[in-house]
Amino acid sequence: MEDFLSRVPQILKRAQASAEKIKNLADLERFFDEFLSKKSAVSEFSKNLKNVPADQKKEMGAAVGKLRDALLQIFESLRDQLEAAELTKKLETEWIDVTKNFPIRNGALHPVSQVQEQVEEIFSSMGFEIADGPHIETEWHNFDALNIPASHPARDMQDTFWLQRDGENPNKNFVLRTQTSDVQIRKMLKHGAPARLIAPGRVFRNEDVDASHDAVFYQVEGLLVDKNISLAHLKGTIETMLSRLFEKETVIRFRPGYFPFVEPGLEVDFRCTLCSGKGCKTCKNTGWIEFMGAGMVHRNVLQNCNIDPEVFSGFAFGFGLTRLAMMKYSIGDIRLLSSQKIDFLSQF
Ligand code: DAH
Repeated sequence: MEDFLSRVPQILKRAQASAEKIKNLADLERFFDEFLSKKSAVSEFSKNLKNVPADQKKEMGAAVGKLRDALLQIFESLRDQLEAAELTKKLETEWIDVTKNFPIRNGALHPVSQVQEQVEEIFSSMGFEIADGPHIETEWHNFDALNIPASHPARDMQDTFWLQRDGENPNKNFVLRTQTSDVQIRKMLKHGAPARLIAPGRVFRNEDVDASHDAVFYQVEGLLVDKNISLAHLKGTIETMLSRLFEKETVIRFRPGYFPFVEPGLEVDFRCTLCSGKGCKTCKNTGWIEFMGAGMVHRNVLQNCNIDPEVFSGFAFGFGLTRLAMMKYSIGDIRLLSSQKIDFLSQF
């Protein structure tokens, strides 16, 4: 142990000399291995303290402790310096100018969302509320309340995704809604008449997907119920909407059509905006473009929603928002809209 005491200054000196040569954290690690790790002289001495005669133990213990503290101090102060230097170096080299113009692709609204926003704005300005309903709907709201009972052949017109069937009770059977017409029912049941709303939203059909059919697409439902409402109001509303959307005076025509929830029921076409009715490829030379289903709300539907058909009347309509967007932007394949292809979507 005498031996140890005489070696202390030597070890310290060696440590100081090697500390002066340390340039980076890897050098520092080697320093630690040599002077402070379990293999180091200090650790050896600590381990051997138990063999030191009792009267020398105190002095020796203090000397070992002092040496360890001195070495530790060298190590820690070097570590702090090196880490600070490393950080400074990082800050100097790894920086970016956040004010610089990077070639970032700006996000944009999906074409269907763009048309939806325009349609919403136009109808809002005419006093229509924007309404919404659940995608998972009861059989009753999606069909029965709209005058389409289970036995009705019109059910076959909409290939339906059934989610859960619990026997005959249409309030306990669930579907992915096949049309946004269900929102008419929800709104009239809740707020009665008068009602003036549009309901844009996603609908689901169990369809084979091709260029013009997708299993998920968007519709806009419209409903106006009040006193003395007639088809003339429907005509004025839709012509105003389309003229503003296409930024061009647009006229519509009615053809008889059948939908169980309206009577009379109509198919509505608008005059082709590309050829102004002269005939072109888009309108298949007819001069007209098929646009939507509509009609006067069937009295059964009003009654299902506790509205007196002797007092109130109304019109309803439903058009394909996805189709409208395809028309507006001349998109030929519906599948592109859900493709998430940035190159396609960034054109709009
Ligand atoms: N819900 C119909 C469909 O999906 C569209 C429709 C037709 C809505 C006539 C209406 C309407 O409100 O009166 O095919």
